[in-house]
Amino acid sequence: MYSIKNLPTHVGIIMDGNGRWAIKRHLPRLAGHQRGALAIKRIITAAEELGIKILTFFAFSTENWKRDKEEVYGIFDIVRNYLKSSSEELYSHNIKLCVMGDYTKLPEDLAEKITEMLEKTKDNTGLILNLAINYGARDELVRAFNLLAKEGKPEIGAEDIERTLYSSNLPDPDLIIRTSGEQRLSNFMLYQIACAELYFSKVFWPSFTKRHLKKALKNYSKRERRYGGNHK
Ligand code: IPE
Ligand code: IPE
Ligand code: MG
Repeated sequence: MYSIKNLPTHVGIIMDGNGRWAIKRHLPRLAGHQRGALAIKRIITAAEELGIKILTFFAFSTENWKRDKEEVYGIFDIVRNYLKSSSEELYSHNIKLCVMGDYTKLPEDLAEKITEMLEKTKDNTGLILNLAINYGARDELVRAFNLLAKEGKPEIGAEDIERTLYSSNLPDPDLIIRTSGEQRLSNFMLYQIACAELYFSKVFWPSFTKRHLKKALKNYSKRERRYGGNHK
């Protein structure tokens, strides 16, 4: 089997370009989101084959509520269908689902489905599929600080912040991939990606394939991570 050296353990993906993918084809934006969900399935399979342990997908941001209601609820429909249609596969592939973001603000049945799948997959030991839904890094930090304020500690340390983040059960991402040519973070995991490598792909998310993922991983494998230390 073809293998890439220095694989990242945790890859975070800012899936961008669904709308432009659709507009380019004279399709409604939701068709782009639909195809984006297929790309998620494709990239999960590719990540399993390549040996990546944790995949975080940015699916819906706290800022995305600003979009038309039709698009917002259309995205939730797609997430709902995605979870329903992939639940068997998640179980059979030993995939553990995690979620970042206040998913209780989503439509009730969707929130219930998420809770059910988190519970059903919690002891799975294969790939960790972390979905960021209604997620924003500032929101996450505000929530964390409020939890700590309630604890009433006179002083807080980095480990206190880390244990109150949504991602407290996961190591920090090693690599962040953003598709569609935009070069910004859009409020994604700001605390956790302090030392992450960033990779920007011009490809719109619905067109992103295993080949593009491999290209990103090969690029990452050549980088030297220094964490503030000396050059080797
Ligand atoms: C990313 O695609 C998906 C979400 C933000 C939900 P966009 O919908 O942002 O696509 P563009 O950026 O408009 O092309
Ligand atoms: C970031 O994409 C959010 C997700 C991928 C869910 P956006 O398209 O919403 O970000 P901006 O508006 O370009 O910053
Ligand atoms: Mg976008």
